[in-house]
Amino acid sequence: MKMICPVCSAFLTAEPKRYFCEKGHSFDCAKSGYVNLLQRQSRRQRGDDAEMAKARQLFLNAGYYQKLLDRICAIAVQEQPMQIMDVGCGEGWYSCAVTSALRSKGTDTKLCGIDISPDILRFAAVRAKQQGIADADWAVASVSHLPAADHCCDCILNLFAPCEPHEFLRILKQDGLLLRVIPLEKHLWELKQAVYDQPYENKPVSDAPEGFALTAFERLTDTITVPAEHLKALFAMTPYAHKTAASDIAKLDQIESLTTTVSFGIMQCRPK
Ligand SMILES: C[S@@+](CC[C@H](N)C(=O)[O-])C[C@H]1O[C@@H](n2cnc3c(N)ncnc32)[C@H](O)[C@@H]1O
Ligand SMILES: [Zn+2]
Repeated sequence: MKMICPVCSAFLTAEPKRYFCEKGHSFDCAKSGYVNLLQRQSRRQRGDDAEMAKARQLFLNAGYYQKLLDRICAIAVQEQPMQIMDVGCGEGWYSCAVTSALRSKGTDTKLCGIDISPDILRFAAVRAKQQGIADADWAVASVSHLPAADHCCDCILNLFAPCEPHEFLRILKQDGLLLRVIPLEKHLWELKQAVYDQPYENKPVSDAPEGFALTAFERLTDTITVPAEHLKALFAMTPYAHKTAASDIAKLDQIESLTTTVSFGIMQCRPK
């Protein structure tokens, strides 16, 4: 990925311990291996915290979303992108697997993951090293100011994360792919029923982001059975976790295991 300086937009050069541009702006890497390219005005946005990162890691590592991961890897392998940016990458569970799948099929893919949360990128950088993807770039950055040059990216992964179509169009190649996953109406319905007196369905979304054409839309619906030890982790990784009363979350303590619907929309979009 041709990464750019968040201050002056010149190309960045990566060294093991820092990234720098020709104008002398320099950004140190954290010990775990990510770099913070977030400009001060965006630092108030925190993204997910370390607790949420741990919860998601525990849940995803247990394999409940394996079918979704397999489908994403299959789409990526068909596409054979050389340069991938995972926007709102979380702990990199999906993008590390996608990169490994592509490399095992002979595509020499380079991965860059960005997320607004430094806490989370620590997990991603460690995971990538463990999975033999030590050359990935992990950068703290905002979806509204991506640290990549214009039209340098073959594929954007945007999974359960904020979407900024103008930035995506700027960095994607004209024939590039935006692979977006969103939760559908009934996603985690039984989990919501267990917690809320009046659960609501997610709002239906099936349109491509502005400036993109939707070239494929798949619904992947399944049921998963989650034992008590992973239930709170599952709830903690949902966007409603922070907005729910502790007394409602405590209802999960009474449940030994819960079978719930998972329902994902997988969108493949191309610049118009
Ligand atoms: C629901 S999580 C999904 C993480 C990952 N894609 C996955 O599916 O496992 C959403 C992620 O978006 C990140 N995020 C939130 N706001 C963001 C922003 N403005 N710019 C970049 N990332 C953001 C959060 O920190 C979090 O890691
Ligand atoms: Zn610079």
